[in-house]
Amino acid sequence: MTDILIDAQAVGRRYVQGEVSIAAVVSATFRLQPGERVALVGPSGCGKSTLLHLMAGLDTPTSGKIEWPALGGADSLRPEKIAMVFQAPSLLEPLTVSENVAVPLLMMDSARDIDKRVADALATFGLDALAHKMPEELSGGQMQRVAMARAIAGTPRVILADEPTGQLDQATGQALLDALFAHLGETDIALVVATHDPAVAGRMERVWRMEHGRLTETVVATRTS
Ligand SMILES: Nc1ncnc2c1ncn2[C@@H]1O[C@H](COP(=O)(O)OP(=O)(O)OP(=O)(O)O)[C@@H](O)[C@H]1O
Ligand SMILES: [Mg+2]
Repeated sequence: MTDILIDAQAVGRRYVQGEVSIAAVVSATFRLQPGERVALVGPSGCGKSTLLHLMAGLDTPTSGKIEWPALGGADSLRPEKIAMVFQAPSLLEPLTVSENVAVPLLMMDSARDIDKRVADALATFGLDALAHKMPEELSGGQMQRVAMARAIAGTPRVILADEPTGQLDQATGQALLDALFAHLGETDIALVVATHDPAVAGRMERVWRMEHGRLTETVVATRTS
C-alpha cells in the first residue's frame, strides 16, 4: 500500500470574479510523505493559504489533480486524517476552550477518552488554565494556541497550520514550536506550516517557496530541532 499522504499534479486554483481572474495557485506538483516537516513561505498573496486549503480537501483545484493515496477521498479527510489550523480565528464562540478542542473528537465515531485527550492537548501547549474560558476572553495568541491544541487532539496523519505563530511574539512562537515538535517526536505525522517567520521556517527540514502562485523551489534544510 502506498504511503504518500498528498499527491498533487499540476494543481491550479483560479478565482474568477466578473472580469477579473486571479491565478492563486499555478501548476503545483508535489508529494507529501509521512513524517515530513515543511515550511511554506512566500510573500503575502502568493497563494499559501489557497494551497493549504487544497491540500486539506477544503477547496477544489480548477486545473490539475490532487489525491490523498494513503488517506482516502477528499470528503473523508477532516477531522480524522488532516487537521487544519486556519489563518483567521476559527474557535467556535459559544463553546469553552475545552469544548472547542473536543470538537474534532466528537465528530469521530471512534473517539474514546475524550476528556483526557482534550486535557493532554491543552497541557501540551500550556493552556490548562484556560480550559473553561470562552474564546472572547482570550488574546489572539492564546486563540492560536488553542487552535493548535484542537489540531493535535484528533491525532491526525497530517497537520496543516496556516501562520500559527502569526500573532505570537518571537519567544512564544518558538515555545509553541518546541511544544509541537516535542509532541510530534518521531511520529510519522506530517506537518506543513505556512509562515512569514524565517525562525519558524528554519526549524523545518524542507522549505517550499511560493511566488505569484508558483511553487518555485524545494530546499532541503537541516532540521535544527
Ligand atoms: N476567495 C477568494 N476570492 C478571490 N480571490 C481570492 C480568494 N482567496 C484568495 N484570493 C486571492 O488569491 C491570491 C492568494 O491568496 P492567499 O490567501 O492564498 O495568499 P497567502 O499567500 O496566504 O497570503 P497571506 O500571506 O497574506 O496570508 C491573492 O491574490 C488573493 O487575493
Ligand atoms: Mg494566507
